[in-house]
Amino acid sequence: MSLASIIPAIAAAQSGGGASGSIFGMPPQASTIAPFIDLVYDLITWISIFFFGIIVVVMVYFMFKYRRTTHVADTEGPTHNTPLEVTWSVIPLILVIAMFYVGLKGYVYITTAPENSYQIQVTGQRWFWTFNHPNGASVTNVLQVPVGRPVRLLMRSDDMLHSLFIPAFRVKQDVVPGRRTELWFEATQTGDFDLFCSEYCGTKHSQMVGRVLVFEEDEFQAVITDEAEWIKRVPDERLYLAGTKFFNQCSSCHTLDGSKLIGPSFKETHDLLKSGGTRTLADGSTVKVDDEYLRQSILRPLDRIVATFPSSMPPGIGTQLGPTKVEAMVQFIQRLDETAPGGKLIEMSRDEIIGTAPEAE
Ligand code: CUA
Repeated sequence: MSLASIIPAIAAAQSGGGASGSIFGMPPQASTIAPFIDLVYDLITWISIFFFGIIVVVMVYFMFKYRRTTHVADTEGPTHNTPLEVTWSVIPLILVIAMFYVGLKGYVYITTAPENSYQIQVTGQRWFWTFNHPNGASVTNVLQVPVGRPVRLLMRSDDMLHSLFIPAFRVKQDVVPGRRTELWFEATQTGDFDLFCSEYCGTKHSQMVGRVLVFEEDEFQAVITDEAEWIKRVPDERLYLAGTKFFNQCSSCHTLDGSKLIGPSFKETHDLLKSGGTRTLADGSTVKVDDEYLRQSILRPLDRIVATFPSSMPPGIGTQLGPTKVEAMVQFIQRLDETAPGGKLIEMSRDEIIGTAPEAE
């Protein structure tokens, strides 16, 4: 029997409107593999509960039946009982082999993506996720996928060990520096689901969270096309506003109000830029804070570490953003008094940024 054929069957039998079939407090089942994982989990848990119950009951019974009383003479106990020993060895052996077999089959299934999968490149870095689609769309912390179609994630890390975890899909995979890992899933319902980094990766590990948005195929195509195209529709003179949409990639390390996090505050950088100031680098040299300094600091962040700050910025971020978005970020910092007046990021929709929204006229 092949598990590939059983898993969809279990999914069909157990999918009660996406609610979890498990009584053990599982999240909703939103992928084809979820009912299978829950079934294995439930089975192992019930077997454990069953044996725990039997052992405790017998143990308590024996405690009373064979308790030491004053007028009993010591006797030699039995040394061994072959049929009993064979029984208590063979039954658990069969049970654990069965668990291993089911686990192995499930593992092979979950690590072998179907041929026709939709592929997304995933990059984990301190402390956000980047999802790159085949059409060029690059999205931070939001994984957009179609429903009812296998999705394959090809994953790499820019710095250290992370782990991508989507509880509702019951999938989780380490993202390891210097290695490519992958996982796949097929969402069974549209909606909005949690996505976590589940491997401690430093100070802001707990904020390395995202969403999974599952769309109907048509809507998915529209959404992902817009992700790839919208920045091209922003007029040059409004590009600085687009930076407000990419700041979330910077926000775990850089603030807008001057307070200090992992890296220098954008407010401080902006003020130095306006006053034509300089910055002292970790190697003791000083550098003038100008547009080119900003650009280079995004493109090659590890070349110019500011004194007293750690060398933490993901080196690949400039490449991921691409030239237009890097320019948007440079202009965003240049005009920080407009993009984040009083240290507070302005909220604008994409249409407002492009200038097509009625209220932006
Ligand atoms: Cu990335 Cu924890």
